[in-house]
Amino acid sequence: MVYLTRVEHFNAAHKLYNTEWSEEQNKEVFGKCANANWHGHNYELHVTIKGTPHPDTGFIFNAKELGDLMKDVIVEKVDHRNLNLDVDFMKGKFTSAENFAISIWNELKPHIEKHGVQLHRVKLQETPRIYVEYFG
Ligand code: NI
Repeated sequence: MVYLTRVEHFNAAHKLYNTEWSEEQNKEVFGKCANANWHGHNYELHVTIKGTPHPDTGFIFNAKELGDLMKDVIVEKVDHRNLNLDVDFMKGKFTSAENFAISIWNELKPHIEKHGVQLHRVKLQETPRIYVEYFG
């Protein structure tokens, strides 16, 4: 089994806010991420697939095609958008990096599997020092 990772970049706005909680509680738990007028992140999306190299190409899947697929299915929908308001697959969810990574996995999986390769990992880097990984 070989693992291939493709990285794509986007930026987006969001806020983390629990409407059931007071302003103070939100500030305490979410800090600056609870800012009412939103804030942004430069996200790096790492998608890892696994498979066996094809005898005709030596590839498990064409890396450029994987990048195009990530752009079509995810980046086009989230880049320069507000994750809370503009993104259909994040509607009604907390836009934490954790939830975002799970949703990205769910969006990408069928598109990747129809090419006969398996999705292995979605890694979402939210800041230079914070990232989450989801393995399904
Ligand atoms: Ni944030």
